[in-house]
Amino acid sequence: MAAVKNIFDPDHYANVRRTALEAETLPPWCYTSQAFYDREVETIFKKTWNFLGRADEVPNHGDYMTFDLFGESLIILRDKAGAVRAFANICRHRGTRLLDGCGNRRSITCPYHSWAYALNGDLIGAGGMEQTIDFDKAQYGLVPIRLETWNGYIFVTFNNDSESLADHLGDLPALLASHDLSNMVCVRRKEFDLACNWKIYLENAMEEYHTPTVHRQSIGKQATLRIDADGQWDGMHMPTDETIAVLKEDLGGAFPQIPGLDTRAAGGTYFLVIYPSTFFAVTQDCMWWLQLFPTGPGRTKLVAGSCFPKATVARDDFAEKVERYYYRWDTSLPEDNAISERQQAGLGSAFSTPGRLSIHETVVHDIANWVLDRTLD
Ligand code: FES
Ligand SMILES: [Fe+2]
Repeated sequence: MAAVKNIFDPDHYANVRRTALEAETLPPWCYTSQAFYDREVETIFKKTWNFLGRADEVPNHGDYMTFDLFGESLIILRDKAGAVRAFANICRHRGTRLLDGCGNRRSITCPYHSWAYALNGDLIGAGGMEQTIDFDKAQYGLVPIRLETWNGYIFVTFNNDSESLADHLGDLPALLASHDLSNMVCVRRKEFDLACNWKIYLENAMEEYHTPTVHRQSIGKQATLRIDADGQWDGMHMPTDETIAVLKEDLGGAFPQIPGLDTRAAGGTYFLVIYPSTFFAVTQDCMWWLQLFPTGPGRTKLVAGSCFPKATVARDDFAEKVERYYYRWDTSLPEDNAISERQQAGLGSAFSTPGRLSIHETVVHDIANWVLDRTLD
């Protein structure tokens, strides 16, 4: 393949810009090139809202989680007033990283010279600084990061000028209103380090063409219908009478449906991409998310979160029955992980060229165009 001079020249992508059934897929370099990845970080991930998890994962005052996001480390915590906040994970004295992993703190003390911060970010202790001229503790609180929540789902952005989260989500909250998602609890978070580009994984999650092949032994064939989206999301609805979060042979042991589902919600499952890199599956009795944290052109951290209504989690048989759900996810996810890494391996070939799309892959086409709208010159 001849070397391409400027991969951000829109002329290279004319065939991706056609309608889905006329279009070609993205050129392989969109999945392998460091320059394309760097452009995505600058023009997409640092500009828009990124999903992190659920507010109920930090239920108590002082509970915190840390996240690595495009070279930045963030602290998500619940403060004494009950608000969930985000801060840059750095000390204002000389820049040391403050916290690791997750846990609970009454305040945050820097491991270097013991500056102490309240949970609202205020600097409350800086012993030894008494003789420093014109030093005002009020000027050295933790650096806040913009955070908004929707029904308990936490999103952050590095862009203080971006639209609100509500504008970003558009009419998605209305679509999911009857699932009462604010009432969900995250019961399990699982992480995978994958050797693939983030778009490969997202595309896979949003097309059912692969299911009879890749998931032959587990979930099998799926059939979906597109949903009209108004906002930074796209979606499909898969009509089924019962939850798809357990394998068919386990349906007898499934939890009851969420009460009050509207007709379409009661009649199937929503598969949704919230741009840029969040997948939601919302079915009749639970929901799960797949969050993709890109760490390089060919590397992605995948976080899978499982959420059930509070009333389901409170059932005496929850611990026993939820194992069927975990079994389903722990079977199907590795199948998607393996095929995604295998696709990445192929796309790295010098002989790899753009392909074509089936009627089952129209969201794959939309993802490509959403990315191009934000990355090209
Ligand atoms: S760097 Fe944090 S107290 Fe000195
Ligand atoms: Fe899959």
